[in-house]
Amino acid sequence: MKNITLALLVGTLILNAQVFDVKKGWSLVGATDKIENLSLFSEGCMGSVYSYGEKQWHTYPDGDLKKMNVGEGFWIYATKDCSVDTSKVVSTFDAKSFFLGNCATCHGDSGQGASSRAIKGQTKSWYSSKLTPFQKGDRTSPSVMSGLLKGFDVNNLDKLNTFLATLGK
Ligand code: HEC
Repeated sequence: MKNITLALLVGTLILNAQVFDVKKGWSLVGATDKIENLSLFSEGCMGSVYSYGEKQWHTYPDGDLKKMNVGEGFWIYATKDCSVDTSKVVSTFDAKSFFLGNCATCHGDSGQGASSRAIKGQTKSWYSSKLTPFQKGDRTSPSVMSGLLKGFDVNNLDKLNTFLATLGK
């Protein structure tokens, strides 16, 4: 039942991907892109976000709901009719801080290598060829990298690859 509803919702929303037009009150919507940061939904007209998964409700901003994966449906409570453009959230992705926070412990702050191998000094297309299989779920080892990158927003992966290509320069 849930899947059928979502398929219909995603079918309609794909037309205006990343922009959620909601009416005052409760609306059920579906994510067509991964939303890393739900903060836009708590600004202005948006009150709260509810999502149901693993037999319980997850809420934002008061609960444990932090991000939304592609195809996930959720409820938004809006205090008036409004529109939220999630591309604004995506554009706040900062590749350097993402790298320092998630990758540097193993690969070093400038890609020189730490607990794992050096990865600096390569071209953007090399990084893309190495990381895209993780993003698509075709490669699962090391599992840490798969966990970080599986289903990763492709625009953000592109930014990450651009940043990685500056390492060691
Ligand atoms: C827990 C440690 C760990 C973390 C965190 C980690 N990696 Fe890795 N990474 C590895 C290991 C181990 C390998 C080597 C895998 C191999 O040689 O098969 C690797 C390999 C790579 C490679 C080369 C892949 C190849 O096939 O040659 C790249 C590029 C890379 N990591 C980027 C990243 C990026 C970007 C992040 C952050 C999103 C990250 N890694 C996070 C451990 C880690």
